[in-house]
Amino acid sequence: MALQRNPTTHIIRISILVIVGFLSLKTAECAKECKDESFSYQSTKCRTHSVSLTEFGGVGDGVTVNTKAFQAAISHLSQFVSDGGGQLYVPPGKWLTGSFNLTSCFTLYLHRDAVILGSQDEADWPLIDPLPSYGRGRDEPGGRYSSLIMGSNLTDVVITGDNGTIDGQGALWWDKFHNKQLNYTRGYLVEIMFSNEILISNLVFNNSPSWNVHPVYSSDVIVKGITILAPLISPNTDGINPDSCSNVRIEDCYIVSGDDCVAIKSGWDQYGIAFGMPTQHVIIRRLTCISPTSAVIALGSEMSGGIQDVRAEDIYAINSESGVRIKTAPGRGGFVKNIYAKGMTMNTMKWVFWMTGNYGQHPDNGFDPNAIPVVKNISYSNIVAENVTMAGKLEGIPKAPFKDICISNANMEVVKSKKPIWNCTDIQGVSHDVSPQPCSLLPDQGSEAYPCPYPTDRLPIDDVEFKECHYDSIHL
Ligand SMILES: *[C@@H]1O[C@H](CO)[C@@H](O)[C@H](O)[C@H]1NC(C)=O
Ligand SMILES: *[C@@H]1O[C@H](CO)[C@@H](O)[C@H](O)[C@H]1NC(C)=O
Ligand SMILES: *[C@@H]1O[C@H](CO)[C@@H](O)[C@H](O)[C@H]1NC(C)=O
Ligand SMILES: *[C@@H]1O[C@H](CO)[C@@H](O)[C@H](O)[C@H]1NC(C)=O
Ligand SMILES: *[C@@H]1O[C@H](CO)[C@@H](O)[C@H](O)[C@H]1NC(C)=O
Ligand SMILES: *[C@@H]1O[C@H](CO)[C@@H](O)[C@H](O)[C@H]1NC(C)=O
Ligand SMILES: *[C@@H]1O[C@H](CO)[C@@H](O)[C@H](O)[C@H]1NC(C)=O
Repeated sequence: MALQRNPTTHIIRISILVIVGFLSLKTAECAKECKDESFSYQSTKCRTHSVSLTEFGGVGDGVTVNTKAFQAAISHLSQFVSDGGGQLYVPPGKWLTGSFNLTSCFTLYLHRDAVILGSQDEADWPLIDPLPSYGRGRDEPGGRYSSLIMGSNLTDVVITGDNGTIDGQGALWWDKFHNKQLNYTRGYLVEIMFSNEILISNLVFNNSPSWNVHPVYSSDVIVKGITILAPLISPNTDGINPDSCSNVRIEDCYIVSGDDCVAIKSGWDQYGIAFGMPTQHVIIRRLTCISPTSAVIALGSEMSGGIQDVRAEDIYAINSESGVRIKTAPGRGGFVKNIYAKGMTMNTMKWVFWMTGNYGQHPDNGFDPNAIPVVKNISYSNIVAENVTMAGKLEGIPKAPFKDICISNANMEVVKSKKPIWNCTDIQGVSHDVSPQPCSLLPDQGSEAYPCPYPTDRLPIDDVEFKECHYDSIHL
C-alpha cells in the first residue's frame, strides 16, 4: 500500500507508538511509585515544562550523590527559558547532593517528604571566588566553598515546596570551624547572586554549615513561609541575609538559630565601599525568632555599601539577645538610615535596643579608619518586652553620633540587675511614652515624638501576587 511505502508516515507511526508506549510506561511507573505526582501550589510564576529528578537518574536513598542528576535536570530545563520555563520536582526521598547551579525561569519544587541533604565531602562544594564586596571569605581569607544551591546572573527563580526540607548536615562544618581545620569559608544553603525576581517559600532549612539564605546583588526577592532550624550554639547560622539587595520582602518565617534571624548587609569595609551597592526597600513582617546569642534583626556589621529603608512589623521573639541591632565601626563607611520597626513583642532578652559603633572586625589592614559610617533616622514604635536585662545600650561613634533616633510607645519589664537600665553614648534622638524612662540623650518630646515615623507608601515588592501553579507527572 502507498502508505507503507511512504517513509515519513512510517516514522510518524513509529513515533506515535513510542510516545504512547512511553506514556503508558510512565503511567504504570507512577501508579507504582509516584501516585502523588499531580498537584497545585502557590507561586509568583508558573512553568510550562516539568521533570522529576528520577528521570535524570536521581536516587533518593540518602547515600547516592545526586549532584549530576540535579545538574542534568536543570541543564535540560534551561532550554525552556524563553518557552514558558521549567520546574524540577523532587519526590519523597533523601537526596544527597553536592552544590548545583540553578537556571532562569525555573522552579525547584520539593515534595513534603523530600529532603535534600548536603554532601559531607568538601570536594562536593567546589571553591569559588570571594564576593567582590567582601574582598575575601567571611571565615577565612581567599576563596570560599560554593553554596549548596546556587544561582548567578539569573532572572526569575523559585525555590519552593510543600514544606520539604533542605538539610545542610552542618555539624561536620561546625566542628571543623571550631577546630580551625577549614582553609576556606563555609558555604551557605542557598545563595542567589546578581539575579532578580526570586521567590523562596514553603520550605524547611536545617543545619546549614553557615548562613541559610543569602540573596546578594539581587532585586525583587520574596522569602515567605520558611522555617529555619539550627542548634542555638551552631556558629554563624544566620537565617536570612539580604546583602546589597533591593526590594526584598521577608514574611511569615520562623527562625531558630545560632546567629541573627535576619541580618541585612551590604559589603565589608574598603571592598564594600568600592562596590557601593546598598541594601534598600526591605519589608520584614510576621517574623518569629529565637536567637539567644544574637539579634532578631541585625543591620550590619557589613554595611559599607549602605542600608536604607527597612520596614519591620509584627515581629515576635523569645529568648533572643537583642531586638533590632545596628552593628558598625569606623572603617566601614556607608550608612544605616531610614530604619523603621513597629509592633515587636519579645520575651527574655539582654537588650531590647542595641546599637554599636565599635564592632571592629576588618577584612584586612587595608581599611580606612577615617571611613566613618553615618547612622541616622532610626524609628521604633509599639514595643513590648518582658524579662529584659537592659532596656537599651546605644553606643554611637565619638564625634559622629548616631542621629535622629526615635522611640515611642515602648514598654519593657526590666528584671533587677546590677546593669544600668539604659546606657547611651554619642547618640541623639527623642522618645515618647517609653518605660522605663530613657536615657537623657532621648528626652521625652511628648506627642511630637509620637508616633515615630513609619512610611505610608507601598513598595513595588508589596504588590507581587501569588497564583495557583500545577505540576503533572504526565509530560513529554
Ligand atoms: C556555578 O556558578 C558559579 C557562579 O557563576 C560558578 O563559579 C561555578 O563554577 C558554577 N558551578 C557549576 C558546577 O557549574
Ligand atoms: C554576572 O553579573 C555581574 C554583574 O553584572 C557581572 O560582573 C558578571 O560578569 C556576570 N557573570 C557571568 C558569569 O555572566
Ligand atoms: C513545616 O515543617 C516545620 C518543621 O517540621 C514545622 O515546624 C512547620 O509547622 C511546618 N509548616 C507547615 C506549614 O506545615
Ligand atoms: C589546609 O591547609 C593546610 C596547609 O596548607 C593543609 O595541610 C591542610 O590539608 C588543608 N586542609 C584542608 C581541609 O584543605
Ligand atoms: C526619615 O525618614 C522619613 C521617612 O522616609 C523621611 O520623611 C524623613 O525625611 C527622614 N528624616 C531624616 C532626618 O532623614
Ligand atoms: C528570664 O530570663 C532568664 C535569663 O535571663 C531566664 O533564665 C528565665 O527563664 C526567664 N524567665 C521567664 C519567666 O521567662
Ligand atoms: C556604658 O557604655 C560605655 C560604652 O560602651 C561603657 O564604656 C561604659 O562602661 C558603660 N557604662 C556602664 C555604667 O555600664
